[in-house]
Amino acid sequence: MAKIGVIGSCSMDLVVTSSKRPGAGETVLGESFKTVPGGKGANQAVAAARLGAEVTMIGRVGEDGFGQEILNNFMANGVSVSNVEPVTDAESGTAHIVLAEGDNSIVVVKGANDRVTPEYVQMKSEVLRELDMVLIQQEIPEETVVLVSQLCSKFGIPLMLNPAPARAVPSEVIEKAAYLTPNQHEASLLFPDMNIQEALRMYPNKLFITEGSQGVRYYDGEKEVLVPTYKVEAVDTTGAGDTFNAAFAVALAEGKPVYESVQFANRAASLSVTKFGAQGGMPTRAEVEASL
Ligand code: RIB
Repeated sequence: MAKIGVIGSCSMDLVVTSSKRPGAGETVLGESFKTVPGGKGANQAVAAARLGAEVTMIGRVGEDGFGQEILNNFMANGVSVSNVEPVTDAESGTAHIVLAEGDNSIVVVKGANDRVTPEYVQMKSEVLRELDMVLIQQEIPEETVVLVSQLCSKFGIPLMLNPAPARAVPSEVIEKAAYLTPNQHEASLLFPDMNIQEALRMYPNKLFITEGSQGVRYYDGEKEVLVPTYKVEAVDTTGAGDTFNAAFAVALAEGKPVYESVQFANRAASLSVTKFGAQGGMPTRAEVEASL
């Protein structure tokens, strides 16, 4: 069983569905409102656990109702919460999501996720030594991402950086990560002085660019490869990227070849969009294997 550590955000998603996305200064009438667990880190942890990995989450929640729900949800999905400590002076993170016109718009309020500081992770660093792979994203402070890249490199643990939401990434982190999984926009921030083809060639079997419904592109050392996605009836695309990252990490940590791992991750991500909520459609291992 792959041992995966996720260092990142835990949030409550406040989701409104509407037939129309409001423009600046406009008010529209929505159709429904729901709160569901989310946050990129938590989503990746839950997705990896459903796919059969042993998952440890390193994160923070507020000492509030949302924080308790987030912890309960981790436990219900078999994710270890012994390194998710509540903070008393910040609210749990929230994501304010509008689902309209077939896509989402999201405003994230980081709250307690900003307390996933380098000092906090340093305190937990012994946990990392036991892992087969570490997953990290960018809803936590940048200095923490830098520290985790240093710790993983020191301990010899492969690090997968999902550089979302988009921001520039220090070159030290790019070099120390074993896998980078940006979308096209995030890739342009990671490699401002290169075009996509140059960046892919510079990082064979390390840089995997997600191109939405097109698929996932990487360079295998000899040629560029595009692994196509699967066509499904999408209900809610929130969390598809998180499912991809988690499934990719699980497959690689289990020793699957790169192409097969991307295929597995594409399949898991395609299933995840068929239900409402970031975690609503995240598949189990059996569901992915049955559909492959
Ligand atoms: O990647 C999807 C996630 O991004 C949502 O669950 C929301 O919490 C936002 O942070």
